[in-house]
Amino acid sequence: MTDVRVDELAKHVGETVTVRGWLYHRRSSGKLHFLEVRDGSGIVQCVVAKQNVTPDAFAQADRVAQESSIEVTGVVKEHGRIKGTFEIDAADVRVLAAVTREYPIGPKEHGTDFLMDHRHLWLRSKRQHAILRIRHTIIKAVRDFFDGRGFTLVDAPIFTPNACEGTSTLFETDYHGDKAYLTQSGQLYMEAAAAAFGRVYCFGPTFRAEKSKTRRHLAEFWMVEPEVAFMDLAGDMQLAEEFIAFVVARVLEARREELKVLERDVTKLERVVAPFPRITYAEAIALLQKNGHAEAKAGDDFGADEETVISSQFDRPVIVHRYPMDLKAFYFKTDPTDPSLALNMDMLAPEGYGEIVGGGQREDDLGKLEAAIAAHELPPEAFEWFVDVRRYGTFPHAGFGLGIERTVAWLCGLPHVRETIPFPRMLNRLAP
Ligand code: 4AD
Ligand code: MG
Repeated sequence: MTDVRVDELAKHVGETVTVRGWLYHRRSSGKLHFLEVRDGSGIVQCVVAKQNVTPDAFAQADRVAQESSIEVTGVVKEHGRIKGTFEIDAADVRVLAAVTREYPIGPKEHGTDFLMDHRHLWLRSKRQHAILRIRHTIIKAVRDFFDGRGFTLVDAPIFTPNACEGTSTLFETDYHGDKAYLTQSGQLYMEAAAAAFGRVYCFGPTFRAEKSKTRRHLAEFWMVEPEVAFMDLAGDMQLAEEFIAFVVARVLEARREELKVLERDVTKLERVVAPFPRITYAEAIALLQKNGHAEAKAGDDFGADEETVISSQFDRPVIVHRYPMDLKAFYFKTDPTDPSLALNMDMLAPEGYGEIVGGGQREDDLGKLEAAIAAHELPPEAFEWFVDVRRYGTFPHAGFGLGIERTVAWLCGLPHVRETIPFPRMLNRLAP
């Protein structure tokens, strides 16, 4: 008798095995109980026939309630009708721990707030399981992509004295008597690290005190941020394009089953192959004007609506580059052919998902960077170390940030980012 995980059953057909997990669902018909047991790797149907088990085991199988922990021993069989599916002919059933209350999440429809309040239990559902497995695959693909291209992983700190992405979304905290912020982005640290390692990336949680409730903003989200020495904006766009195509291909290759659970239209994802279209900000404004936003004019920032209109003109992600400098963070290099424009780029995902990547080429001129810090009214002392990168062998460099949760939402086809992270932190949600 061997202990096995449900996803290993195929290797044990005809053998007697034991699985341990939780009761997902039970059906009974007199002399037969059908127990669906969930162990995290999959769900297996265990057939408990009266004549095959002790009366006590049969009685336990009759009483066991949803989400009780349970152990079933029996012979593995290939399912009669569904190829590639296995079941267990039970010889013994033991309830390890019965639930002490009725499990609150049943087959009936529950409201979003109820489910979010029970997020710690909701994670056990098929749908959440599929989403978080895809998230895992995306993160693994992200690491494999950069690790395979000579990048060094350099972890950025979470406590920082620097506002990287503007001062309006900072979470402030007391740091032994000094003011500190939870990091909005590891970018500034990656710029320093790029001078040490050439190609670097960081991957970790980042924080934004977003005051608005939207379907794509979290207070805590995970971001991967590559930074490359001697790369310009064109190189940055190409890197982002190859990166996204790689991640999408990996998910399609490794997570078909989960995409099916989510009823994701994979034909839309299969179109996500390089090259991706590139348009300038000016072209994006013209596109908006032609498509129901006659009032759009140069200088406008894009919100979710505008991004949806722009991205829906394309069947794969579109890269919009060279936004007005006025709309952008202090660290961008200006376009030498038009200093009012930033050498930046955003990648907008199709199907209305909008911005998933933001990045660009960094200001590498000492004097211009100091002037930008002053113009944005940032405290120069806090940025001294960052400016140092321009004092000791300054170099052209570029990078970007990809938000993991928006990527998960897009690839899974979810309407909201709240299901893309195990325990979301949003404007009105700190628990569980
Ligand atoms: O465009 P953002 O603000 O860029 C930066 O932070 C740069 N410093 C990155 C860099 O160049 N190294 O954020 C990058 C991405 C966005 O495109 C989006 O995918 C995600 O991070 N993001 C969020 N995701 C969820 N909730 C939020 N509140 C987010 N804010 C940004
Ligand atoms: Mg952005």
